Amino acid sequence: MTHAISTGSPNTHSTLQDAYRAFQARGLKLNLTRGKPSPAQLDLSAELLSLPGATGGYAEDIGDCRNYGGLQGLAAARRLFSGIMGAPADQVVVANNSSLALMHDTVVYSLLKGTCDGALPWSRQGEIAFLCPVPGYDRHFKICADYGIRMIPVALRENGPDMDEVESLVAQDSSIKGMWCVPKYSNPTGTVYSDAVTERLAAMKTAAPDFRLYWDNAYAVHHLTEQRIAIANILELSVRHGHPNRPLVFASTSKITLAGAGLAFFAGSKENVKWLLARFIPRTIGPDKINQLRHVLFLKDEEGILRLMDRHRALLAPKFQTVLDSFANKLAHVPDVNWTRPKGGYFISLDVPRGCARRVVALAKQAGIELTPAGATHPHGNDPEDRTIRIAPTFPDLPEVAQAAEGVALCVLLAAAEKFPAQAGAPASVETVARHGSDELRSAESA
Ligand SMILES: Cc1ncc(COP(=O)(O)O)c(C=O)c1O
Repeated sequence: MTHAISTGSPNTHSTLQDAYRAFQARGLKLNLTRGKPSPAQLDLSAELLSLPGATGGYAEDIGDCRNYGGLQGLAAARRLFSGIMGAPADQVVVANNSSLALMHDTVVYSLLKGTCDGALPWSRQGEIAFLCPVPGYDRHFKICADYGIRMIPVALRENGPDMDEVESLVAQDSSIKGMWCVPKYSNPTGTVYSDAVTERLAAMKTAAPDFRLYWDNAYAVHHLTEQRIAIANILELSVRHGHPNRPLVFASTSKITLAGAGLAFFAGSKENVKWLLARFIPRTIGPDKINQLRHVLFLKDEEGILRLMDRHRALLAPKFQTVLDSFANKLAHVPDVNWTRPKGGYFISLDVPRGCARRVVALAKQAGIELTPAGATHPHGNDPEDRTIRIAPTFPDLPEVAQAAEGVALCVLLAAAEKFPAQAGAPASVETVARHGSDELRSAESA
């Protein structure tokens, strides 16, 4: 019977240990770390590589794409993404492959040169801070950490950041110059900002006149269900509330076409676009327009992009479902264990009992499963509750995802059993731990 853990007996814990050792013995090498597209997803864009062909390379606005020039990007590429960026084509900039690079550069330009709002460069205004909804994207936090920008965590709720907290912070503190926002299918929680949250971000009073929303719409068209969720247009709302220069909007085709050879996009007010292009002048004589042209020829129009994203969804949705099913089977009744059920994007966020995330990641590593380091979802890698783990199921193939999800669930059970060996009032946990420990052992033996 399965009361061993609740009575403090080592039996159930040892059952889990047996299951864990059996899992280890499979000698698996699984990786659930970075949200990369799988090779099958990259294959969906294979045709891109044969475009525009040896005699191509001509665009209506700049002529020969093989040459220098076209700083803002081809008009056809800007038109193609204008709807997704929520801006007219003349307020869109197309750059080379990485939107993260654009975000990094706009932060650095603001530090060194100031924004288009005429204030001093941020670096000459004393301490600078950014609001960081948590859990969030580690690379956003890394940009701040690298340039000495203080990070202020704010809670990410079901409909977006906690706006009472955000409004009160930005109203009082003029050192707060920016805020990271992933408004649709956030990394890692899958959160979609409600229209009300977006409107409050556009309307709120900020003590800093040169405050910027870093609106990273990385997952704008990355739906995992048939519902193509739309969010409010931050550029239009900011104009309406008298803050046209507040949002800097970013996106890319990294997870639409080729992650290493896609296009990155920026959109903003006319003044922000002018400001950014002026910053480009000492940096480049123009982007890779051949790549822009081949994207235009391959994707054709917004409907073409959405059709391609449906094909990505067909590959991705079963992987997400497999993880969700596995967690539901193994972890549903374990106290303090929760996970998100995203409707899009690239991640599932798994919360384990307090103080257990690092241990789960370590156990997983010893069992051949690489997970994103615990804490990566928080500024400076410091998750004060040591709870949140980012799960990225996109890259491995489906059977590997299934094995990895089983392994992660087992590690959660084992870490919880280690941490709370005789936790009072946790009968469901005990039952679950014991039952699934045995299941694990059986499936390990049959593998
Ligand atoms: C929220 C978010 N922004 C940006 C990126 C990187 O974008 P890019 O490939 O365009 O640099 C990622 C990649 O995982 C991401 O999750």
